[in-house]
Amino acid sequence: MSRPQKEIYVTTAIPYVNGAPHIGHVMDYLLADIYVRYQRSLGKKVRFQAGTDEHGNKVYKKALSAELTPQEYTDQQSQLFQDFIHGLGVEYTDFIRTTSPDHIYKVQEIWQKLSPHIYQNTYEGWYCEGCEGFITQNEYDENHGICPDHQIPYQKLSETNYYLRISDFKDQIRDAITSDQLKILPDFRKKEALKLLENAPDVSISRPADHLSWGVPVPGDPSQVMYVWLDALSNYITVLGYPDQDISEFWPADVQFVGKDILRFHAITWPAILLGLGLPLPHVLLSHGHILSNGQKMSKTLGNVVDPLEVLDRHGLPAFRYYFSRHIDTFADSDFTWEKFDNAYSNELANDLGNLVQRLATLCTKNNVSGITTKDAKQKTPPRSNDPEYIELMDSFEFSKAIDYAWTKLQTLNRRIDETKPWSLAKTGTPEEVTALLQSLVTDLLTANAMLAPFLPDTADTITTTFTASQITPPTTPLFPKN
Ligand code: MSP
Repeated sequence: MSRPQKEIYVTTAIPYVNGAPHIGHVMDYLLADIYVRYQRSLGKKVRFQAGTDEHGNKVYKKALSAELTPQEYTDQQSQLFQDFIHGLGVEYTDFIRTTSPDHIYKVQEIWQKLSPHIYQNTYEGWYCEGCEGFITQNEYDENHGICPDHQIPYQKLSETNYYLRISDFKDQIRDAITSDQLKILPDFRKKEALKLLENAPDVSISRPADHLSWGVPVPGDPSQVMYVWLDALSNYITVLGYPDQDISEFWPADVQFVGKDILRFHAITWPAILLGLGLPLPHVLLSHGHILSNGQKMSKTLGNVVDPLEVLDRHGLPAFRYYFSRHIDTFADSDFTWEKFDNAYSNELANDLGNLVQRLATLCTKNNVSGITTKDAKQKTPPRSNDPEYIELMDSFEFSKAIDYAWTKLQTLNRRIDETKPWSLAKTGTPEEVTALLQSLVTDLLTANAMLAPFLPDTADTITTTFTASQITPPTTPLFPKN
């Protein structure tokens, strides 16, 4: 029997649930969703994972302060994240929770399979409770003993843990990254990963159970609990059924989306786990930049944390997806400010696109021009662009540049309408001439619209429906009302 063709598999980092979703969580989902929609428009079948990372001391403490059991607390928080992701118009196919009994059992199996590469050792050194991680003497000195992310002093620690022998896999990982067998994007993150790899120590994968009670018990040693990263990283394969099921129909992942702060875990620890299990490495690891608030890192102490629900509320979902896919660079850190967001809404969405749609549809109505039936519209599939420059950008994951490119097409079309003045031609030309001009303008709009579809699916849908109808009428409410 022939093997089923491999489906595209896309993953996103699973957020900690010790707080509400914040704006920084958006990028993994949005980028993955754009990619997935693009692949689906090419007729590909896609499996798309999302999930929540629910173990660890921070979650445990939050549950206690909320007077809930950890399980009650994580149930509530995980639901919050699922609602949030749906609210972004993101269509994942699988959702995994690290506290689900199925995942816990599978992670324990994974631990056992990795046992030839696991050893016990005692750690003596600095620890950050906020990061739940060990701190080297260098980091301690550079930060003067205080964690810059959590603003809490590092603690002295001495404890016995299990370690994963990264050194067993360093050469293989280096070769895979260098040869792009595991392609790390962008290139500067690939260089960063290779540098991190040179000095990468073996990693601690457990904590004494009396320091970390909310976690997966280490098989055969009740005094130890798995440290969150082995548990969390394994989600990418337990969600597919590993190790009970053959996952080769989906694994290796085509793309894994993660933020720059967790590059180390995905470029070193995760490949080491996979190699230890005898599994192939993912094809692409895309590490996006961070969203800044007014040019600064977001932090509760600075009081500049942006609430994604407030952003969604301001101008609706399409505006949200538009800003974060075009104005937040796919790879570099980029800024969010309310002023930039409002300007993008009025100048770009309302003017460049909303007015264009309204104006062109009104001209078609007045001149009795019928819509253009595209192949995609007939087949009721999302429109698909044939533009080689756009395809090149999408295929190389340059999403913010791809939507920029689509926008230049809209701007050119706006200029073309101004220059060709169909309203004047309607007075001086024949009906055939007017129809020909308007239909060619509509074709240009539908061409640009196909490029927008992965980014703004609902808007693209409305535009397709409007301009492929037998009788073109402007949308009853403007796409982007001035408010
Ligand atoms: N639980 C881990 C991930 C485990 S994956 C096996 C974690 N969680 S997190 O909640 O801190 O981050 C989740 C995702 O959000 C990560 O990809 C992280 O990089 C991303 N971001 C967090 N803050 C961000 C910004 N300010 N901007 C963009 N992305 C950021 O790490």
